[in-house]
Amino acid sequence: MAILGVNIDHVATLRQARRASEPDPVWAAVEAELGGADVITVHLREDRRHIQDRDLELLARTVHRPLNMEMAAVSEMVRLARKIKPAMVTLVPENRREITTEGGLDVAARLPAIKAAVSQLHRAGIVVSAFVDANARQVAAARDAGFDICEIHTGPYANALGQQACLAELDKVRSAGEQVLNAGMRFNAGHGLDYRNVAAIAALPGLLELHIGHAIISRAIFTGLRTAVADMKQAIAHTMAR
Ligand code: PXP
Repeated sequence: MAILGVNIDHVATLRQARRASEPDPVWAAVEAELGGADVITVHLREDRRHIQDRDLELLARTVHRPLNMEMAAVSEMVRLARKIKPAMVTLVPENRREITTEGGLDVAARLPAIKAAVSQLHRAGIVVSAFVDANARQVAAARDAGFDICEIHTGPYANALGQQACLAELDKVRSAGEQVLNAGMRFNAGHGLDYRNVAAIAALPGLLELHIGHAIISRAIFTGLRTAVADMKQAIAHTMAR
């Protein structure tokens, strides 16, 4: 069964709306773990719009599950990651004006710089994942850059309108996953997944981890985070029972 990485950035987004001290993403990580989160994910953005350096430092010392740090492949972030030493780093593209991460990382276009970042992170003992579109050229570039993992972008699947379009996008994720596994990397997936659309992705052969944020934090407003995470775990487990 695929394991679940819970992205808690939105908790920090709410705190930063008031520049206050609550809600605290460190508390959120505890609740997510109590609900069954297998991985805790935070994205330290260059503009620090949600997660702050203090959060990352505290989370690295307090989470019991592996910490996954999403970040841009830039020297400031590589330096910070090498200091904090999360279990895993996911390299993502970053555009200051975007509302959330939009497309996958263009590994092919920046291969030498990205390869250097991956190797610096490896030297600090960090496992490195590439967030890429379901695209053969990007998966091949991720292998060439030395990534351990590809997280395939499921946004186009999540946003597809109509069953046919949805199945076509699902097939792209499936075939990218196959390519990832054949290249000797681990196959993760995420973005835009919710309680309804997660099942088909969770059932893909060889999928190791799902990375989900918005749907879980949205439900948590009404149910509490522990329950929202447990519900998502159940939606994933349900896949296996079908
Ligand atoms: N994976 C990556 C690489 C992301 O950047 C995000 C968004 O922060 C997610 C997964 C989670 O996406 P969502 O919030 O839509 O579940």
